[in-house]
Amino acid sequence: MFSFDYYNPTHISFGKGKIAELDNLVAKDAKVLILFGGNSAKSTGTLDEVKTALGQRKVVEFGGIEPNPTYETLMQAVSIIKEQDIDFLLAVGGGSVIDGTKFVAAAALFEGEPWDILLSWGTKVTKAMPFGSVLTLPATGSEMNSASVVTRKEYQAKLSFMSNHVYPKFSVLDPSKTFTLPERQVANGVVDAFIHITEQYLTYPVNAAVQDRFAEGLLQTLIELGPKALSEPNDFDVRANLMWVATLALNGLIGRGVPQDWATHMIGHELTALYNIDHARTIAIVLPGMLDCRREGKQAKLLQYAERVWGITDGSVDDIIDAAIAKTRAFFETMGIQTRLTDYGLDASSINQVMAQLEAHGMTALGEKKDVDLAMSRKILERNL
Ligand code: NZQ
Ligand code: ZN
Repeated sequence: MFSFDYYNPTHISFGKGKIAELDNLVAKDAKVLILFGGNSAKSTGTLDEVKTALGQRKVVEFGGIEPNPTYETLMQAVSIIKEQDIDFLLAVGGGSVIDGTKFVAAAALFEGEPWDILLSWGTKVTKAMPFGSVLTLPATGSEMNSASVVTRKEYQAKLSFMSNHVYPKFSVLDPSKTFTLPERQVANGVVDAFIHITEQYLTYPVNAAVQDRFAEGLLQTLIELGPKALSEPNDFDVRANLMWVATLALNGLIGRGVPQDWATHMIGHELTALYNIDHARTIAIVLPGMLDCRREGKQAKLLQYAERVWGITDGSVDDIIDAAIAKTRAFFETMGIQTRLTDYGLDASSINQVMAQLEAHGMTALGEKKDVDLAMSRKILERNL
């Protein structure tokens, strides 16, 4: 196992009715900017519940953060913070709203052009406003991590940053808030969490027994409960378990002390920026080809994954790996998520566009061994046409 530091200061308040805890989690004299997305926070009643819990505190609202939040929209929130003397931010929504709030929190105190936050991968962030979140969509883990992904429309660029300054102070996770999710978002959440785990698990062995077993348990839970969330949408326990799995998938725990990949995500981000395909769907397109093309470097972990997660042991090394990749693809498709570029109306010409964007964004040496160059990325996408 590699040496590591593990730091995660986010307070989690989990369970039905926990929004009422905001009264204890937010300072009594806070001037709060509530950030939310399109209409769901209002139409589901969650925004009202949040405002009730905040009681007499000064509250200003900022709605309209898009899925795949944009720099252009988020900078409007930064202006409001300055005008209205806000001192605490509260994100109410899914990963996009929480990621957007992280950027706003850092940008509001940033000296210089805030886009540099993304260009520097967050290394230039030295402080950020405090914020909390009320999660309404289990998927990204943003509620308990230090990462954020922001899109700048004018450049068709979707870039991420990380900083210890943007961990939420707290996140409220009430699984009953996820009952209103459309099937498409439930499926997206399950597949996104699944691939967060594979990015940290399907690399090469470093004798990290706990991280491996933890990752395998989380994957098996998704395989078992993901389809149930679609077939039994009113089951609270299914929702609760999925919510906690998605958080644990990317709160840093399973990724400490092990190599990490993230090539699937980096290529997926380009597909979203260019073609506006949902984040989870882009990575479901990329992952099967990624595993196929990198089967040598990942062989030991792919065999472990095949055996421990899918129970596949028979056949040659290649047979076993083929079967594990086929099971992975079939699982995504069971969740209603198509896994080929052509399923989304794209063809070989779009691969050229993705290549140009990867090159423009310096994504030319990806993966745990930095060996995913442009030629490999092209091969991976061609495998998933
Ligand atoms: O905009 P509204 O009307 O609120 O509707 C949202 C949105 O359209 C809707 N929704 C959310 N909660 C709902 C609900 N609808 C009904 N009932 C509810 N309870 O769902 C739609 C999608 O929301 P979004 O926040 O975009 O989804 P998700 O949580 O999947 O977040 C995706 C974003 O997170 C980034 C992605 O790149 C993408 O931009 N990621 C962030 C990561 C991180 N911070 O660590 C890691 C991930 O890999 C990912 O890259
Ligand atoms: Zn993701």
